[in-house]
Amino acid sequence: MKYGRDLLKNVEGYVPGEQPKGGPITKLNTNENPYPPSPKVLEALQNMGERAFRCYPDPVSTALREACAKRYGYESADWVIVGNGMDELLALVLRTFVDPGDKVLATYPTYSLYEILCDLHGCVLTYEDLDENFQLTDAFYTVDARLCILTRPNAPTGVAVPREAVERLCESFDGLVVIDEAYVDFADDDCMDFPKRYDNAIVMRTFSKSFSLAGMRIGTAVARPEIIAEFMKTKDSYNMNAVAQTVGLAAMEDYDYMQANTAKVKATRERLKNELELRGFTIPKSGTNFLLAFRDGTPTAKDIFQALRERNVIVRYFAHRRLENALRITVGTDEECDVLLKALDGILG
Ligand SMILES: Cc1ncc(COP(=O)(O)O)c(C=O)c1O
Repeated sequence: MKYGRDLLKNVEGYVPGEQPKGGPITKLNTNENPYPPSPKVLEALQNMGERAFRCYPDPVSTALREACAKRYGYESADWVIVGNGMDELLALVLRTFVDPGDKVLATYPTYSLYEILCDLHGCVLTYEDLDENFQLTDAFYTVDARLCILTRPNAPTGVAVPREAVERLCESFDGLVVIDEAYVDFADDDCMDFPKRYDNAIVMRTFSKSFSLAGMRIGTAVARPEIIAEFMKTKDSYNMNAVAQTVGLAAMEDYDYMQANTAKVKATRERLKNELELRGFTIPKSGTNFLLAFRDGTPTAKDIFQALRERNVIVRYFAHRRLENALRITVGTDEECDVLLKALDGILG
């Protein structure tokens, strides 16, 4: 492509999980929530007047940021930015705080989008391997980089490192520490208090998983007001459309509903984990709405993935180091998990 930038020549775009166009598919591949969002979300949508469509939205999403600050224990919206999904905020953190050529640190394995965002930005992602239990090693704390992104609980492992490990990181790392808490509502604890305690901590969340709003594209970041003020310089003027602001606020104000849904998902997760273990899979403790299920021998994980696809059950397979023997399975409803287990029984015999 003679018109393309040199930077993009060797960059492959991110390939999201398959979104099938209907049909009798059991979709357990992209960590969506199997339950609908709060009824208050649909109500708020229906009550939007024509003005919300005709006029530009609030450029700084004040009401949604205030609701997030209140819920997360911060005194004002100055501690919060919202974005078009957390993915936008991850791109923005590079645009705002990382110069091309700088080093960014992440664990291996982790969310594969970080590497692509770094490639697109012209900075260098340095991976430091997690240990055999998917925990941070001592070496991780010694890496010198401009920014560190730690996913807690991690994807695709599902494992959360202890809070003390994140404390040690914020204390020892000489740069900003982004704590990606996309899945934290399914975990036992979180680090939302860290921005109060550490001036280099940025905690990011998404409404895509626990709030059942992946289609609306809403993410948040919480950090010291001086960090948020820098973000505000680089975001698009109207980065949150009016519908996303309205439904995000309605969802945040019905927090109990979200928590009831996550409780259901967590209960199903434990049942599914037991059932998969009975079928010979090994699964690290998950603090998320998915399981990373390892299986040695034949049929291989890749074979099982393909055989499930033929039976209209979609899970995720990564042909990446340390993940080749695993399937990442989103926790669906109990009924969806039963369909998966039945299909697995057909495949495994
Ligand atoms: C670890 C992690 N961070 C961030 C995201 C992105 O969330 P969003 O849908 O808000 O862009 C995902 C989505 O799958 C994720 O797995």
